[in-house]
Amino acid sequence: MNILLIGSGGREHALAWKLAQSAALKKLYAAPGNPGIAQCAELVSLNVSDHSAVIQFCQDKDIDLVIVGPEAPLVDGLGDTLRAAGFAVFGPDKAPAQLEGSKGFTKDLCASANIPTAGYVRTTSLEQARAELPKFGLPVVIKADGLAAGKGVIIAETAEAADAALVDMYGGGFGDAGAEVVLEEFMTGEEASFFALTDGKSVLAFGSAQDHKRVGDGDTGPNTGGMGAYSPAKVLTPELERQVMERIIQPTVDTLAAEGMPYSGVLYAGLMLTSEGPKLIEYNARFGDPECQVLMMRLEEDLAQLLMYVAQGKLAQRNAIAMSDTAALTVVMAAKGYPGTPEKGGAIGSVDDVSSDTVQVFHAGTAIKDGALVANGGRVLNVTALGNSIGEAQTRAYAAVDAIDFPSGFCRQDIGWREVAREQDN
Ligand code: AMP
Ligand code: GLY
Repeated sequence: MNILLIGSGGREHALAWKLAQSAALKKLYAAPGNPGIAQCAELVSLNVSDHSAVIQFCQDKDIDLVIVGPEAPLVDGLGDTLRAAGFAVFGPDKAPAQLEGSKGFTKDLCASANIPTAGYVRTTSLEQARAELPKFGLPVVIKADGLAAGKGVIIAETAEAADAALVDMYGGGFGDAGAEVVLEEFMTGEEASFFALTDGKSVLAFGSAQDHKRVGDGDTGPNTGGMGAYSPAKVLTPELERQVMERIIQPTVDTLAAEGMPYSGVLYAGLMLTSEGPKLIEYNARFGDPECQVLMMRLEEDLAQLLMYVAQGKLAQRNAIAMSDTAALTVVMAAKGYPGTPEKGGAIGSVDDVSSDTVQVFHAGTAIKDGALVANGGRVLNVTALGNSIGEAQTRAYAAVDAIDFPSGFCRQDIGWREVAREQDN
């Protein structure tokens, strides 16, 4: 089959790397891609917000499947347009993509389907939010309703900080994303991510991961898109996974279908493992970045075929997804300054030398300048390794990090610390 992959990050490089190994693949195109993706696909410059241009390309190139990596084109309705034009798409339509595009939408769905999550109130004005605030204890969680690139969540420890966050959001500090604000009860527990594929009816578990959102060692400093991840997340035991499928994922899929907006694609559930059981923090309508990188390393399936089953609504014909028992861990190498203003143009060397049976380097924000690889974004490389334990994968990933020459880059030195400590205790 001919496939068009949309996106340009480490997530899409991992998808492209796995797709390139597929026996079913004839030709892979990526828009816009990056220099790493160029090693396994033909890069095309397509304006993905110009839906008719994407359709034209798919017709010209005889595309059988379009895989949408990031959330923005999904929330923008690219899936709907392509499906209406007769193309198979991996990724939900605009209406069900509201699971990521609107936090209030997801909370209302949880309420209607009795899905465990934090108590909440949706608000549409500063006055209303201020009136609701005293009903919550402290800390209180304040969220911009719309897409805010992971930055729209404030955990306020004091009433003053909560009020300041509301003033900021309703004052336009988060643009359109803050036109509505959700107030939430604060949950405590360990966080884990769970992924499931669904075609709107059937659901298959894809595996678990944990990421590190803060920029600094010891989970300190500002939030980022993710500085590293590992899979599996052993805290999500088989019994807890069963509960997540039964109480969270399946009711979500069933409710959306019953409401006439079946969800097709990957559901990425951010979970809090509370003393009362797993609760939903939020949904994303796509694979995590960098969680996708560790999942792809462990996947023992033909990815092109698997995603085609999802896109064609034939998941019921599939058995459980085969994931290797090995562990995978990825370390993000970022450009100095990230998550603020990252330094652009820093030289990167020795990347291709570190790949092996157990190590892959996925490109995120890289570019080719005057024939040489340079940094071109905040998160630049995802150094990913397999191992018999998270500890072994961690050792291999950091050995590869040390062998890469990226003087204007940095990374966290403690990716996987929680799990490595648990492994050492056992
Ligand atoms: P989100 O963008 O919704 O994933 O939120 C970002 C981070 O904020 C999550 O990974 C959690 O660490 C935290 N968070 C969000 N909602 C809650 C909540 N209700 N209780 C505690 N922490 C939360
Ligand atoms: N790593 C977090 C995300 O992809 O949203």
